[in-house]
Amino acid sequence: MSPGEISPADMSAAEKKGSVGQDRVRIDGPLKVTGTAPYAFEQPAQNPAYLFPLTSTIAKGKIRSIDDSAARALPGVLEVLTHENAPNLLARTDTELYILQNRDVHYFGEYIGAVIAETQEIARHAAGLVRVEYDAEEEDTRFRAGHPERYNPVRINTGVPADSKQGDVDRGLAEAALVVDEVYTTPYEHHNPMEMHSVIAEWDKEKLDGVLGVLGERPHLRIHDASQGVSYARLMLLPLLGLLPQQVEINSPYVGGAFGSKGIPHAQVMLTILAAKLLPGRPVKYMLTRQQMFRSVGHRLTTHQRFRLGAAEDGTLTTITHDVQQSTSRLKQFAEQTVNSTRHLYAAPHRETSTRMVPLDIGPATFMRAPGEFPGMFAQETAMDELAVKLGLDPIELRLRNQPETDPESGKPHSSHYLKECLQEGARLFGWEKRHAQPRARQEGEWLYGMGVASATYPKQMTPPTKASVAFKGGKYHVGIAAADLGTGAWTILSQIAADALQVPEEQVVLQIGHTDLPLAYLAGGSTGTYNWGSAVMVAAVNFRSRYGQTPAEGDEAEGGAHFPDEAKKYALDAYGAHFAEVKVSRVTGEVRVTRMLGVYDGGRIINPRTANSQFIGGMTMGISAALHEESYLDSRPGYGHVVNSDFAGYHIAANADAPQVEARWIEHPDPMFGPTGAKGIGEIGIVGVPAAIGNAIYNATGKRLRGLPFTPDKLVE
Ligand code: MOS
Repeated sequence: MSPGEISPADMSAAEKKGSVGQDRVRIDGPLKVTGTAPYAFEQPAQNPAYLFPLTSTIAKGKIRSIDDSAARALPGVLEVLTHENAPNLLARTDTELYILQNRDVHYFGEYIGAVIAETQEIARHAAGLVRVEYDAEEEDTRFRAGHPERYNPVRINTGVPADSKQGDVDRGLAEAALVVDEVYTTPYEHHNPMEMHSVIAEWDKEKLDGVLGVLGERPHLRIHDASQGVSYARLMLLPLLGLLPQQVEINSPYVGGAFGSKGIPHAQVMLTILAAKLLPGRPVKYMLTRQQMFRSVGHRLTTHQRFRLGAAEDGTLTTITHDVQQSTSRLKQFAEQTVNSTRHLYAAPHRETSTRMVPLDIGPATFMRAPGEFPGMFAQETAMDELAVKLGLDPIELRLRNQPETDPESGKPHSSHYLKECLQEGARLFGWEKRHAQPRARQEGEWLYGMGVASATYPKQMTPPTKASVAFKGGKYHVGIAAADLGTGAWTILSQIAADALQVPEEQVVLQIGHTDLPLAYLAGGSTGTYNWGSAVMVAAVNFRSRYGQTPAEGDEAEGGAHFPDEAKKYALDAYGAHFAEVKVSRVTGEVRVTRMLGVYDGGRIINPRTANSQFIGGMTMGISAALHEESYLDSRPGYGHVVNSDFAGYHIAANADAPQVEARWIEHPDPMFGPTGAKGIGEIGIVGVPAAIGNAIYNATGKRLRGLPFTPDKLVE
């Protein structure tokens, strides 16, 4: 083993001390429920100014003129920022962040400037006084399959190839006893964390007045942001700003939910930075309105997926094909890995997947909880149910018959693989034996009842360098890492991991996260937080102990970087799960109610059952929300293309009444190939396949197959 490497034995020694694996309430819980955990907008700021954005009212074209005289004349207005006076950005390394540098408009609602004023109200009022003239061009905002400009993105999110091919799918389908060949669709969705995105940016007046590039005690630019990861957010901003890392500070200790939209900085961060540069020495604050959350902080792209399965009489799969067309912004590509799970879940000799992007004049998409796996597994797991119906085979049995011996794409053995156990244990706990194979067999009054199942899988991601530090101060171990807690429990589980790795009670650990002064950490994304940050914390703790022993002196300090076993490269690394849904569907209104849901997971070591349970049931609830409600509608009139249902009256999200009984269980097999924590990452697997399980239950209830999300009553009314 190389220096700093931790064996699973170290972890089990730690386990005996009993912090990891124990139920712990969230450290940040009291602060959050009492409203005292400071979010970005609430961070202390001396004499702040407030920003309200100017947004384009055409979908494509150029700004001809801007008349801001009425806005500037309004008492309390400090500045009007437009492309005419915006500070220059150095490098166009990110097309989404390179704003206000020219007259171009790329989509309806794009930021084209901002008013900065003494109060939020004045800024908002003044923004309405700015007159903008445009030279509009014809836009294209309507997603459709077969779009003439669709293109192959070559590589898709997480770096996997867009297409794949093994065997001969034409032969496979021709020789199959049974074939499923259907199209599945998923809509645009928008992230709606409780905390809207917000930023405070402040440029140091003295630094700006002084010689460029001179480093001092204070950074040039200080930012409070709602961020899933301050380290990589800063790395993305630096080349545009032409600043060095030491010149920019980002703080984000508490976040009120994220789901991917806070993963990387979007244009609102740059807008606030540019506005603040016009008022050096003064912090500028901006919090998006709920409506603005539907404009420029990303969304889940829409998909059109043709899925084909070929099988022998006994249900053995011979062919799997998955051809995806999905939307993208012409301004910046984001390509979900919608086909990826298809490559890894079931065995079949003939396999093909493809990804095509449909370029549109809309804002950029971004990560949204389980990008790729979420839309892709809706198609795959619905198609599997359709095949089970055609075969007259139980859908769990069909899945069990197609478990791969090794990873179907790479041929590598699985580091651990307990999908079969999840399906079987879930079936037992859920009472699957009570399910009627025939649709419409259970009816109570106006309600038809049914049950459905779907598998879930979520891969281990590669993580860029991540570090942690341990320092002994005032009798406590201060553990630092620029991690983020979005409400997930990261504050708590990292403290538990640190306590065990240092072999001290949790009370002796003081954790610090969410600041760029702390050791660089990869973001809270791809369900990597626990195994990635946890590994860095463990290595830092081992380094600390090996250097200073059990009785360190005041000020002793050590660092460590996340480390993963070299042997892991020989394996396919994935988490698994099985989702079970029971629904009732009204024969009168077509309304769907999810009466019960159960998820059983293979998530490796569970660091804290309470926060893990919360991640699982949160994922399932978000899956119910996507199944029943969530859809962003774009305005199809010429000249528009923005989201029309951009509030909670028009964009529905699951409430408590939509999720009456959502339960999670797990089969706990720590997997050291995921890293020394043995945890697999559980932030996203809870949503994967959930809409398929619900749609399959709707079929079982009604005999009606729905292939497009969401399952709204108009699609089911009889
Ligand atoms: Mo998550 S969608 O990987 O931020």
